[in-house]
Amino acid sequence: MINVHCLNNIASCGLNLFGADYNTESSYEDAEAVLVRSAKMHDLDLSNNLVAIARAGAGVNNIPLEKCAANGVVVFNTPGANANAVKEQVLACLLLASRDLIGGNKWVADNKADSDIAKTTEKAKKAFAGGEIAGKKLGVIGLGAIGQLVANAAISLGMEVYGYDPYLSVAAALNLSREVKPVYNVEDIYKECNYITVHVPALDQTKGMIGKDAFELMQDGTVIINCARDVLVDESVIGKYLESGRVKCYVSDFPNPTTANLDGVLCFPHLGASTAEAEDNCAIMAVNEIKDYIENGNIRNSVNYPACDLGICQTAARVSVCHKNVPAVISKITNVMGEANVNIESMANASRGEYAYSLLDLDKTIEDSVITELATIEGVIKVRVVK
Ligand code: MLT
Repeated sequence: MINVHCLNNIASCGLNLFGADYNTESSYEDAEAVLVRSAKMHDLDLSNNLVAIARAGAGVNNIPLEKCAANGVVVFNTPGANANAVKEQVLACLLLASRDLIGGNKWVADNKADSDIAKTTEKAKKAFAGGEIAGKKLGVIGLGAIGQLVANAAISLGMEVYGYDPYLSVAAALNLSREVKPVYNVEDIYKECNYITVHVPALDQTKGMIGKDAFELMQDGTVIINCARDVLVDESVIGKYLESGRVKCYVSDFPNPTTANLDGVLCFPHLGASTAEAEDNCAIMAVNEIKDYIENGNIRNSVNYPACDLGICQTAARVSVCHKNVPAVISKITNVMGEANVNIESMANASRGEYAYSLLDLDKTIEDSVITELATIEGVIKVRVVK
C-alpha cells in the first residue's frame, strides 16, 4: 500500500485515479507522496519515506525545492492544467480595467431603492464610461502555457500583441499566433504597451522585475495585470505611479495590506485558477505524475529533478537513484551491479543543475544488501526499488 497525504483539498476525480493500492488518508509523516495546492511547506519536515510531492497548480513558491532535491524528494507541478482558467481571468481583467463595470454595478446597488432608477441611469452612466481594448497594445511577459493563451486570445479580440520570453520553448512558439510580435528586450514592452500582463514564475531573478525602472519607462495610463505572483511587481512604489496617472490601473490577483488599500488597484482573492475545470485538470495531472513516478520511476514535469522516462518496466526489476550531479557516481552504481552479478538491461540518466537521476532496468531482483551498498556511494541521495 502506498501512503498519500493531501495537504489541501484535491478534486476527487484525481484522487479516484489512485485505485486500491494507494491509501489517500495517510498522515503527512507516513506518506510516500504528498499532494498540495497552496499549503506552505517550507517549515515542514521531510520524512525519509517521502519520495514525491505534486503541486496541483503551476507556482511552486510554497515548496522548498532545494531542500526537497537534497533529500531525494522529486517535486512535480502541473503546467498548463489551469492555463485556460487563468487566461479567462486575464481577459476579464483587461476588460474590467477598461470599462468601469464594477463602478457601474456598485452604482446600481447603491440606487436600488430609487423608483426612478431607469431614468437616473441615463444621467449617471457617463461616470462609468471607458475605452475599448481593440486596437490597443498588449505586452505579454512570459509566453509559457498561460502567456501564450492570453496572447492568442488578445489577438482575436483585436489587440496588437507583443510577446517577451527569453526562454520560449519550441512547443510554445509553435502554439503562438503569428500575429504576436516578438520583443527581445523587455524594456520595449514597458515603453510601447498600453496593457502589460505578466506570466513568469516567482524566482529570485524575477522578484520585483516590474519596479521603479520599469514604471519610469511606461506611458501615462498604462494598465498592469498580475495574475502570476504578487512579488513580481514592486508594490512598495506602485502607489506613486498610480497617483501620477502613469499607471491607470493595477489589477492583481493577490490582495495584501498594500494592494487592498490603494486607489486604482483592482484586486481579486487569487481566483485565477479557481474553476471546477482547472481544479479537476490539476488534480488529474498531479495524480498521474505521482503514479508514474511511484509505479515506474518516470519523471515528467518535475521542478527540481530532470525529466527521465523508461516507460513501463519490462524486465525483472527496476531501481531508481536520486544523486548529486558529480563525476563517477554512475560508474560506481554500475560497478555495484556488476559485483552483484546483476545485468543492467537498460538505463536512463539525466541531470538538472546540482542533481541527477538514474533509472536502471535489471535482469534480476536485487538483494537488500545491494541497495544498501548503492545508498552508501558518495553523492547518492536516495535509492528506490521501483519493481
Ligand atoms: C498556480 O500557481 O497554478 C495558480 O496561481 C493557482 C494556484 O496557486 O493554485
